[in-house]
Amino acid sequence: MSNRYAIILAAGQGTRMKSKLYKVLHPVCGKPMVQHVVDQVSQLKINKIVTIIGHGAEKVKAQLGESVEYALQEEQLGTAHAVMQAKEILKDRDGVTIVVCGDTPLIKSETMEALFNHHEKMSASATILTVLTKDPEGYGRVIRNSEGLVERIVEQKDATIEEQKINEINTGTYCFDNKSLFAALNEVSNENAQSEYYLPDVIEILRQQGKVVTAFQTEDYEETLGVNDRIALAEAERIMKERINKSHMKNGVTIIDPANTYIGADVKIASDTVIYPGTIISGHTEIGQDCEVGPNSELKDCIIKDRTVVRQSVVHESTIASEVKIGPFSHIRPQTIVHDHVKVGNFVELKKSSIGSGSKISHLSYIGDAEVGDNVNIGCGSITVNYDGKNKYLTKIEDEVFIGCNTNLVAPVTIGKGAYVAAGSTITKDVPSEALSIARAHQVNKDHYVQKLNAKK
Ligand code: UD1
Ligand code: MG
Repeated sequence: MSNRYAIILAAGQGTRMKSKLYKVLHPVCGKPMVQHVVDQVSQLKINKIVTIIGHGAEKVKAQLGESVEYALQEEQLGTAHAVMQAKEILKDRDGVTIVVCGDTPLIKSETMEALFNHHEKMSASATILTVLTKDPEGYGRVIRNSEGLVERIVEQKDATIEEQKINEINTGTYCFDNKSLFAALNEVSNENAQSEYYLPDVIEILRQQGKVVTAFQTEDYEETLGVNDRIALAEAERIMKERINKSHMKNGVTIIDPANTYIGADVKIASDTVIYPGTIISGHTEIGQDCEVGPNSELKDCIIKDRTVVRQSVVHESTIASEVKIGPFSHIRPQTIVHDHVKVGNFVELKKSSIGSGSKISHLSYIGDAEVGDNVNIGCGSITVNYDGKNKYLTKIEDEVFIGCNTNLVAPVTIGKGAYVAAGSTITKDVPSEALSIARAHQVNKDHYVQKLNAKK
């Protein structure tokens, strides 16, 4: 196997997206398109990956980090000009270079590997990944000669009516002999409908030099979709969603209605978990086995352990342990840790709190900036009063505490182990362990009040 290099084209603005966001940063299933491409390329054995950046360079760099090297294309003069920017890093190297567009988020590493292998087997100077499609509109068309050999690629805008009928398209992914590529790039001109330096022109140049140019036709049109506008973006989202959902189902996850279930590309789910419709699971969420999630739930960057149920709820950036019941209608906000066997019921909001195992917060409560021990019962309508308008304060509720309904715990405050707080209390001072604290007005009953009132009338 020869040395392998990769160039990812990501400098374009993406005018057809009509967006403030640079095209390659538009997410597909929650992950920017260019990140999908880099992740797939990174699965191959590649000596160097160079990403060409221009529009939104800093943002693209912030996204991809140090996983790739960068070359800046200051002016976007076309795809050949873009590749040229990798010259300093790559031009003197022996080996094969794959060029992939940052706007083809569905391309798979296996297909790129097959392209490399085909290229090497054919001892080619260039190999284009092509595909047959019913709708070639917008793509470059592959022109073959009478013997069926690839002659050149013609862009949509430069194609004759006859050429536009060709339904074999350039997917925008190619392998090149590295040195031949950089030599040929010098000869590309911009005399075409868009006055751009087209990378596909390298094919014709190499061909005219008598070099071997081949095409590797893939079967899977969906994988090669180039996203130039929002219509294609929605199509990519649909295909990626289907691919992700199928892979989870193959791994033993039940998805009741895949068309209505949105799972991000980096989500992990263990077997025998059931996902109900209307559920969105995103970021680096990991869900254990035998869980039930949904319907209509939103999980982002969470860790959920085994046999936990999350119904009609929102959980963000939190860890939920095993055999926990969340919802319906709970909101778990970032930095919350819920331990085993906890129940968080309807209309309960948790924020930056830890809830010890076996504890119950079953109805209508707000628990923020709190440390709640094990086997605590928090009655309906209880609130940690954590904010004085300027600062946030901690509430500590030790193990086995019982908090009666409709209680305000004005932080900073500690409720000692095993203590009881009477319903309707507003607690402003620490409660010693095993004490009963009552902090509410005494009840006064005025007998025969109504008769007296009526007599006055
Ligand atoms: C390109 C191909 C076309 C192919 C299609 C596949 C050319 C001229 N045409 O067309 O044959 O069928 O992809 O999807 O290559 N870019 C830069 N710098 C530039 C211009 C573009 O980095 O100066 C990047 C873009 O960010 C994008 C990629 O190159 O990621 C492709 O550019 P785009 O404008 O989308 O080309 P297409 O019109 O789709
Ligand atoms: Mg494109």
